[in-house]
Amino acid sequence: MLTKEQNELLTRVNDDAPMGKYMKMFWIPAVRSGRLERGGDPIRVRLFGKNYVAFRADNGEVGIFNEGCPHRGVSLTTARNEDNALTCLYHGWKFDVSGKTVDAPTEPPERVAHFCKKVPLKSYPVREAGGMVWTYVGEGEPTQFPEFEFNTLPEDHVFVRIALINANWLQVLEGTVDSAHVSILHQESSKKVSAEVNKTLYDPSPRYEVDEQDYGYRAGALRKMPDGSQYVRISEFVQPAWSFIPKNPKEHHVAAFCVPIDDENTAQVFIFYNFNRPLTFEDAAVLQAQFGVDPTAPADNFYEGGSLKWAQKREMLKNHFTGMYGVLVEDYIIVESMGLIQDRTQEYLGSSDSFITRVRRFLLNQVKAVQEGRVPKGLDKEIDYPGIRSTNAVMPADTDWRLAPK
Ligand code: FES
Ligand SMILES: [Fe+2]
Repeated sequence: MLTKEQNELLTRVNDDAPMGKYMKMFWIPAVRSGRLERGGDPIRVRLFGKNYVAFRADNGEVGIFNEGCPHRGVSLTTARNEDNALTCLYHGWKFDVSGKTVDAPTEPPERVAHFCKKVPLKSYPVREAGGMVWTYVGEGEPTQFPEFEFNTLPEDHVFVRIALINANWLQVLEGTVDSAHVSILHQESSKKVSAEVNKTLYDPSPRYEVDEQDYGYRAGALRKMPDGSQYVRISEFVQPAWSFIPKNPKEHHVAAFCVPIDDENTAQVFIFYNFNRPLTFEDAAVLQAQFGVDPTAPADNFYEGGSLKWAQKREMLKNHFTGMYGVLVEDYIIVESMGLIQDRTQEYLGSSDSFITRVRRFLLNQVKAVQEGRVPKGLDKEIDYPGIRSTNAVMPADTDWRLAPK
């Protein structure tokens, strides 16, 4: 349970909210790379309650600017995208992909060059990796780019899908670090997939052991198996909102990031990846079976908050635990049903919530550091991002879960 103040501090990200300030100190995977075509439509990207425009120039480079034209605020999503620049339709001011103003035809010709140098267009650093366009919208110099394993793989080894969830980002994040619900909420899908996944069904009350790291936590969810062994699921929470989720078969890996669109909306970026080979449509079908991601559904909004909110089929409950289709849809409906921002002053936590409590504490400490003008933990040193990986294993009961092979 949290106080009202703590809940506000943890959840609010709009404007100058301290949590937004803290999260903006990290690179954010903002748009799926495939969504931006060379010379194609500029699109609106909303992050932390503020609108940006993203576009891919003819030369393939991506630009991200504030959405409003620096002249008089026209949305640059309506702009022309040509000559490696956006041209605002209202007065023809032209901004190249690097963020330089290159024309302002409403100024006297002899003044244009000088005038252009002073136009305060706000553009943001961009990187492309892991099938995503990343940006840094924080103040000052960008911090370390997270070279997670999926960011270094060839494009066809990575499969990205995005869900738009009509709820606060922390609710979505808490769902991804809560191993206990897998045995209950997702039991139908678990039953369907494989004996490996099924192991969560043997023990719905895992014991957590959590190791704090510079970047967040590595946590073992330990379940007792009927034969006396233990089933270990190791997840990673990486600040500010990453979860590395154990997955079977282990050949595939999953990372999820909660992008705060604003206080009440979240884009969950799901990154599936394989170290050894390209992912195929068949893999996508497996993912569909396991996660409920329809490979033919739109990649940028395979779930859209509210649209499936009441997709529970009550008549299915006789033969199916939730009456909902697929693991992720189960997650999203459940998370949305808690309200736009869950009132954490009205909750009653049990022992299986210990990891969630730790994650909240980590985030609260980080926000406190920001409020006090200190550098948050982990931002003062080099992080070994490639070394972060979730895993699972069956091990003898008395073995240390930290020894599970990655
Ligand atoms: S508002 Fe964009 S050029 Fe005038
Ligand atoms: Fe879930």
